[in-house]
Amino acid sequence: MKKDFWKHLPKPIVGLAPMDGYSDSAFRRVCRAVNPNIVTVTEFTSADGLSFGAERLKQKLAFHPSENPVFAQIFGKNTETFILATKVCEDMGFAGIDINMGCPAKKVVKSEHGVALRKNTEAACRLVEAVANNTDLPVSVKTRLGWSDASGLIPFSKAIQNAGADMLCLHARTYMEPYNVPAQFEHLYALKPELDIPLIINGGITSLQDGYQKLGNCDGFYIGQASFGNPWVFSEAGAPKTFAEKYPLILKHTQWLIEHKGESVGTREIRKHLLQYVKGIHNAKAFRSQLVHVKNLADVKVVCETICEYDKVFLKNLA
Ligand SMILES: Cc1cc2nc3c(=O)[nH]c(=O)nc-3n(C[C@H](O)[C@H](O)[C@H](O)COP(=O)(O)O)c2cc1C
Repeated sequence: MKKDFWKHLPKPIVGLAPMDGYSDSAFRRVCRAVNPNIVTVTEFTSADGLSFGAERLKQKLAFHPSENPVFAQIFGKNTETFILATKVCEDMGFAGIDINMGCPAKKVVKSEHGVALRKNTEAACRLVEAVANNTDLPVSVKTRLGWSDASGLIPFSKAIQNAGADMLCLHARTYMEPYNVPAQFEHLYALKPELDIPLIINGGITSLQDGYQKLGNCDGFYIGQASFGNPWVFSEAGAPKTFAEKYPLILKHTQWLIEHKGESVGTREIRKHLLQYVKGIHNAKAFRSQLVHVKNLADVKVVCETICEYDKVFLKNLA
């Protein structure tokens, strides 16, 4: 992709937010099967680890050709390892590089990575500059409003833009604010006229309609947690009504996860998604205990097909 990819992408841009443990290749494929126009970003991945050529990380980052354009999100603080990691991502065929400056995890912050970079604009800009000057791919940054308030947001964002970022995505909460604090988009509406690069908003968006309403003067939005068990959040038509209608995509999700990670790991990882997929189904509790014990694709099929039948009978009796 060219550096001006984000500028020319039709607006509003809609994307699946990067989420460790969720936005892996299989789930990204599922969301793009629902809406082929969304952009997706990988789970955050260590620049240090990638720069050493860690096979395990490369395997985790690997994506299916049908996913493109997909963006590799990397975190760290060392410009040299960022440049090497960028080369690895280029060779893997990613459409662009997304730099994580928002992760609040204790371990990440203690190493001065992720959101800790919000306390050090110079170091943050050095990273962006190093990556932007060493790749032809578009470079984006995902961050938060600030550490404890949004007072430094405009100067920080302008500095990141001047350092070479081609897009900025902002989770409209500070580092100090837990997820139940409402996102404060007004800071982003005030920031937008100060920037020449596209600005994507994120935080607590629950549907496409909700995103269109909250977009304001910005260029797009990412949806994160509202996609758990509900990739149809990216569909204008909304989610299918019955479990039986959802099942073909749930089965694909399982198959794609197994294709990427093998049957043992893939089945273990699909369990948390299955628990989300059955939310709202009558008597879901009874099925949860079976879903947390699935060990292979055949188990998933047996339990899900039982749920389809149960749900059908339940809905028929309701009618
Ligand atoms: C389980 C989980 C994992 C996350 N992992 C990442 C990550 O790897 N990189 C990142 O930039 N943000 C990560 N985030 C933050 C999300 O991208 C997003 O900014 C946040 O969830 C707010 O959006 P939402 O309310 O739509 O979920 C994560 C969030 C959650 C809940």
